[in-house]
Amino acid sequence: METADSARQPEILVPAFFNRNSISALMQRASSSFSILPLSQPQGRASHRTRFRFLAMMFLLWVLPSRMDAQAVDDASPRETVLFDSGWRFQKGDPADVAGKLGYDAIKAWLLPTGNAFTADSTAKAERPKGNPGGLAVSYAGLDFDDRYWRQLDLPHDWVIEGSFDPKEDGSTGKLRYDGPVWYRKRFTLPASDRGRQIFLDVDGAMSYASVWVNGQCAGGWPYGYASFRVDLTPYLQTGEENVVAIRLDTPPHAARWYPGGGIYRNVWLVKTAPVHVAQWGLHVTTPEISPDSATVDCQVTVDNDSSSAAQSRVRTEIYSLGQDGAPGKNPVASSDWTGLTVPAGTDAMAEVKVPLPNPDLWDLVHPHLYRLRAIVQQDGAQVDRLETTFGVRSIKFDPVQGFLLNGRHVPLQGVCMHSDLGALGDVVNSRGLERQLQILQEMGCNAIRTSHNPPSPELIDLCDRMGILIMAESLDCWTQGKVAGDYHLLFADWSERDIRSLVRHFRNDPCVILWSMGNEIPEQQQPEGAGIAARLSSYAHDEDTTRPTTIACSAPVGGFNGFQEGFDVFGFNYECRWSWGKQGPDIYPRFHQANPTIPVMGSETSSACSSRGCYFLPIDQSLQDIQVSSYDNWTPAWATEPDVEFQNQEKNPFVLGEFVWTGFDYLGEPTPYNNDRSILLNTADPAKRAEMEAQLKKIGAVPSRSSYFGIVDLCGFKKDRFYLYQSHWRPDFPMAHILPHWNWPDRSGQTIPVYVYTSGDSAELFLNGRPLGRKIKQPLEYRLEWDVPYQPGKLEAVAYKEGREWARDTMRTAGPAAQLLVQPDRDTLAADGRDLSFVKVTIADKDGIPVPTASNSLHFDLAGPADLIATDNGDATDLASFQSPDRKAFNGLALAVVRTRAGDAGPITLQVKSDGLPTVRIEMTSR
Ligand code: GAL
Repeated sequence: METADSARQPEILVPAFFNRNSISALMQRASSSFSILPLSQPQGRASHRTRFRFLAMMFLLWVLPSRMDAQAVDDASPRETVLFDSGWRFQKGDPADVAGKLGYDAIKAWLLPTGNAFTADSTAKAERPKGNPGGLAVSYAGLDFDDRYWRQLDLPHDWVIEGSFDPKEDGSTGKLRYDGPVWYRKRFTLPASDRGRQIFLDVDGAMSYASVWVNGQCAGGWPYGYASFRVDLTPYLQTGEENVVAIRLDTPPHAARWYPGGGIYRNVWLVKTAPVHVAQWGLHVTTPEISPDSATVDCQVTVDNDSSSAAQSRVRTEIYSLGQDGAPGKNPVASSDWTGLTVPAGTDAMAEVKVPLPNPDLWDLVHPHLYRLRAIVQQDGAQVDRLETTFGVRSIKFDPVQGFLLNGRHVPLQGVCMHSDLGALGDVVNSRGLERQLQILQEMGCNAIRTSHNPPSPELIDLCDRMGILIMAESLDCWTQGKVAGDYHLLFADWSERDIRSLVRHFRNDPCVILWSMGNEIPEQQQPEGAGIAARLSSYAHDEDTTRPTTIACSAPVGGFNGFQEGFDVFGFNYECRWSWGKQGPDIYPRFHQANPTIPVMGSETSSACSSRGCYFLPIDQSLQDIQVSSYDNWTPAWATEPDVEFQNQEKNPFVLGEFVWTGFDYLGEPTPYNNDRSILLNTADPAKRAEMEAQLKKIGAVPSRSSYFGIVDLCGFKKDRFYLYQSHWRPDFPMAHILPHWNWPDRSGQTIPVYVYTSGDSAELFLNGRPLGRKIKQPLEYRLEWDVPYQPGKLEAVAYKEGREWARDTMRTAGPAAQLLVQPDRDTLAADGRDLSFVKVTIADKDGIPVPTASNSLHFDLAGPADLIATDNGDATDLASFQSPDRKAFNGLALAVVRTRAGDAGPITLQVKSDGLPTVRIEMTSR
């Protein structure tokens, strides 16, 4: 049997002090707030008991590179936060003795108390029943259970992505099975010196219906798979002895409309504190007054007293300015005096500490400056806790006429919706994977992300704080009425307050977060009860955070006029409600604006155009072929619009805050228009379109597609043409031109090929083999330039102009036969931390290095050295080869391999790529 890791070094400790190299990344975990908002709801802080936890721990991941040597926490603080990810055991299924006996109804009473800190109503607080659910002794949860035959693994882990695609499975969830119980177990020993401390398990996310068991006892849990939660392990642990924590997950069938993943797919932490300590997410920072000379930093510090006697405590705060590397200055830039606080036994109390911050450096998109606030708690003169949270100083304003203002400057929301998966990596959270996505989106001019349709990972929020990207943090995809049988409606009555309060409390210090979304396309938007629920959910968010508005993504026009809209501070329409109104419906934005002049409005979800990278189908209006969608960017489902239509809407209605395009990246599941579900496939009122779809469906028979076609960027992170359409509009000052399609049409010599140019210039001239094909000028409300070009192989060149001067060029050349592999890692020096990634792009090229745009060569990857090949992909939504396979066909000339380092194992890494008939290529990387 493997030694349990209890005897090992703690995997990583989040330092309570930050005078070490490793801390730089810690700094990214920001919090902040404040703003000036026209809130249409009555506001006010809740009088409810607040509990929080150390935000800083959450974002450790990003810094893990070279941080595995982290040592014990600062002596002066009894708080210790240990990354608890390594050395777990995993097994699918329940033991026979409890099979069918641990369903949600059976365990619910044990889970509800975990959410007690997130209910304002003291009568709604749940008390844990005695014993275990059903009085069961659950073998998998016990200390003496022999788990040596279980698989050993480290978190975060998504077991679903490891499965084999089954064409018969539902494409909407990715053709992978995700339902049914699974167990994770971890043994650890608590030193005797931990006697008297509080010991918490903080789970950033587990999919789903998590119940947490300690030494055989059900200690708590949380059902919503996107929620972060804390379970108090203290009553069930033995100090100086071995313990086991077991986590059971059990996603029901039909639980999702997209790929849900499965497992403990985010990080897990062990937090040890003194009995008197700052509550979970218990630092709440706002900056209610900001001027060039000074900002007031107001920190509400909630202190829990888990001891049996009242605590005489006092609290003070210090503020540090963070440098560009995330490291704090040596000395605080501001600090407070002590504020006394009496905390009665077994409850909590809040101290409010205000500090003037001189010459505040503001957080904004180009200069996302961050500060770190440290709170110090003393009891009877001795320090009992100290923790830090990062925040930014910035103001936000949502104005129904002027739009969104950041620090007084108008910023149109150029946003995208993102699901949480990382393509071939599944739902496993990975900071580098997320960072890469954000870098690609920022390059496009994207400045905002909607975390559709659920709470984000702490890592995403950290990155957005640091990178200057705005966040609409969404809570739910349904309320009381589910969209699929196993949806959140099963939990809504018990958990909606807990889930919304915990989302807001978790991220309310983060300057990147600007909006709390109460839901997406909620059926109740059209029903009389909708307005009441809306107001109730918004009030939870307002209780927790008075500085940001609540919003909604509404898909029925009536929801903007029937009183439902009054439940939110900012209103969002999806697809301008074309789903309900049809494409010819009246313009919703001006109608809404006229009827609701005080409520700012935005396109909370727009476009939903579909395309497959590198596929161009002719004739140009026959966009659906070969279970792919043409990249001429002219096909959308019935409810959707080409990107251009929403650009027009935004231009015509400058009061609109902006848009969130569906979606930034392709994601697993929901392969519209090639869903299994015929009702979705045929969901169009247009008889011609319906006939076209029927014919397609008949032709392809079983639909193989397992991932979406909606992305502006494909599942691998390769840019589709649409990327350049958005870039041309969203970055008008960035000189660029982009030609499509490719120029390899051997069967179409002399025939006309439509050519589009996307450019941030105002006109462009096209040349074929040096011969001018005419200059086209973008007309108002026009976003692409178009030529019909008789095909002749060679060189197509676009020269773009702006205000009469040459602005940018792009060239497209006809490629010869495939002759070589171009292998490019996005990074070749990696951190030996077991998390850092290199995304290696393989391009099939001709002898001159010109990419062969139609190549589909089979590739084989071999990796040597201290790293693992964790995934391969190619962006083809119909490719059912396992993502873990070292064999991958190129799709339209490209493929991807993802390499992950091993923790503590440095050295050279060699990736070899082979393809029949082409020279083998080896590239070197280094892990250190
Ligand atoms: C929207 C929905 C999204 C996604 C999208 C596809 O109506 O909110 O989750 O399903 O349609 O177009």
